[in-house]
Amino acid sequence: MLSASPRRGPLHRPTAPLGPGGTALPHNRLCGSQVRASLGRGLGASQSGEEGGDAGPSLKARDPRSLDTGRRRREARPIRLPSPKPPGLPWAATASAWPPGPHSSPGRTTACSCGWSGRAARRSWSCSCCRRGASPPGRKQRTGRVPETSREGTERKTSDILVTTHLQGLSVVPPITDLDTLPEALSPSPSWATWKEGLPLTIAAGCEDDLPANMRFHEEKRLDFEWTLKAGTLETVLKRVYTLLGSWNRLEDFDHIFWGQKSTLSEKVRQRWQDDELFGYQFLNGTNPMLLRRCTSLPSRLVLPSGMEELRAQLEEELQDSSLFEADFILLDGIPANVIRGEKQYLAAPLVMLKMDTSGKLLPMVIQIQPPSSSSPTPPLFLPSDPPLAWLLAKSWVRNSDFQLHQLQYHLLNTHLLAEVIAVATMRCLPGLHPVFKLLIPHIHYTMEINTRARTQLISEGGIFEKAVSTGGGGHVHVLRRALAQLTYCSLCPPNDLAERGLLGTPGALYACDALRLWEITARYVEGIIHLFYRGDDVVRGDAELQAWCREITEVGLCQAQNRGFPISFQSQNQLCHFLTMCVFTCTAQHGAINQGQLDWYAWVPNAPCTMRMPPPTTKEDVTMATVMGSLPDVQQACLQMTITWHLGRRQPDMVPLGHHKEKYFSDPKAKSVLNQFQTDLENLEREITDRNEQLDLPYEYLKPSLIENSVTI
Ligand SMILES: [Fe+2]
Repeated sequence: MLSASPRRGPLHRPTAPLGPGGTALPHNRLCGSQVRASLGRGLGASQSGEEGGDAGPSLKARDPRSLDTGRRRREARPIRLPSPKPPGLPWAATASAWPPGPHSSPGRTTACSCGWSGRAARRSWSCSCCRRGASPPGRKQRTGRVPETSREGTERKTSDILVTTHLQGLSVVPPITDLDTLPEALSPSPSWATWKEGLPLTIAAGCEDDLPANMRFHEEKRLDFEWTLKAGTLETVLKRVYTLLGSWNRLEDFDHIFWGQKSTLSEKVRQRWQDDELFGYQFLNGTNPMLLRRCTSLPSRLVLPSGMEELRAQLEEELQDSSLFEADFILLDGIPANVIRGEKQYLAAPLVMLKMDTSGKLLPMVIQIQPPSSSSPTPPLFLPSDPPLAWLLAKSWVRNSDFQLHQLQYHLLNTHLLAEVIAVATMRCLPGLHPVFKLLIPHIHYTMEINTRARTQLISEGGIFEKAVSTGGGGHVHVLRRALAQLTYCSLCPPNDLAERGLLGTPGALYACDALRLWEITARYVEGIIHLFYRGDDVVRGDAELQAWCREITEVGLCQAQNRGFPISFQSQNQLCHFLTMCVFTCTAQHGAINQGQLDWYAWVPNAPCTMRMPPPTTKEDVTMATVMGSLPDVQQACLQMTITWHLGRRQPDMVPLGHHKEKYFSDPKAKSVLNQFQTDLENLEREITDRNEQLDLPYEYLKPSLIENSVTI
């Protein structure tokens, strides 16, 4: 159920009145009906946007039931037009290059201001030439307007004035005499919605068609996304047919589906996935390098039964040498497992202890699949010296748990949902001329649509998670809630996070090495831009829009994240720069590191099983090949895993590399120079990584700047 977010503090709009049943109405729905009713008195019904085909100056009241039921609607939503340069404002720039995409009618020829024209396949249309939204024929191409200013350098949004005035119960709505300003006046900011209680807020959109046009996929991207999904589905069907009469009782049977979409590295994974060395390597440089930490003491949950004194001595020796590491999946403890096609699935919360040898190889020493519990016997510890199938199954449980936390905590929550909070807050709080708006806009491109699609196709009822993943069917929401509760500001900033995990300077930690370099380069870029516009801490402190934006992210979007170290206001330039660096890094490099490895490491399903179909073993001697194959995903689940990891992990054909967006958001030559330096720094890093990778058996490419997308788009 979508609901209005709580709004607090003087910088927020007043609390929304209650709708039927006492439910607070989202602001856009409320404003839509009330503002239209008010304007109708002066403008007449024809200008209140009631017609459905052409969304001109309209703002529609939304049927709350439509979002609840997920019914796909095609109604138009107006959006705010950009504002041109207000004379005398400190944000010296031309009109924002973030034009809205006025809706057009399907099938009608539509022209863009850049000169390109074409036929619109759907209402929300963007130009194939410049990617801007375009107006349908006969409609004046609206340009930005000079905003009203309440003080020098601060743009006031007409929509806010209207909405605020009306919500305060004033009977007089400020008169609108210039129809050219109408869409902006009527366009509400994107509204927040609660996808699930206890999780970050999202944009209020029941499906992608509800999104503002300038937040939508470009036509080329949409077609590619939808066609590859269909191609993947077709491939799954073919594999099901191909394996229909075959066996599924040996590990080699996974070969029967290991064709179609795969990568060079995924082939190496298939060959070496059983090696302890590759198992350990993935904690440092796989698709989830976020869980590993260096031990400073032996974990309390690691209960060593009698007879394991030798293991204890080895662990303590490694601890003394600072070469003992752990990966603890305790977050999964007690999470309800999925039921797929009537069959119960299983989850565990393993702990794995690893040692780093003198050559930098990370090798597992012991695995405890389940934590100790007062209601069950001491859990067995699995060792490399155990029977091979028992040790392999123990490692598979770890890899299954890693799949869950990677996808939910480190991918979905820490990059996708966080990026969406940043995007929605930016669109709600910052005017188009604000330097922080211009800095961030290239890094929130497409994020709202990919996340909306994820909520309707991937983690929804009947979505991919429910069909194939052991945390699907509701467990994933529990995992996300727990993960949000422990999401700290420091954990999103590599210098802090890697220090806290004891990974600074760790040989062979390629993610850590590249992430730190990218953080530095990003920080230099952010500081370069910010120092052009903020000449002192007092300017930062006095920027009400900036402070509102910060509060919106921390307190509203991230659900009181100030309790977890996130700033709720900016007191200095440095504080602002650090936060913005985190924003840009999260939306670019961090997502690249977490997203790009899916195809490499998940295409060979036994290396990272999406689900486990039998409970964890409680003894070592009884583990047989039937146990292993009975635990790993079945054909259908494995095919789905391959399909979705290819769909989401493959390189995007229209990808924009980090820092190489074509739109010129800043016209100031100094800002352009800062961007040029950013690009130069990235090119230098690219060369360093390329040279390093040539020396490596397994090149680490996920943080190569040319492969990092400029925003979260997939
Ligand atoms: Fe992603």
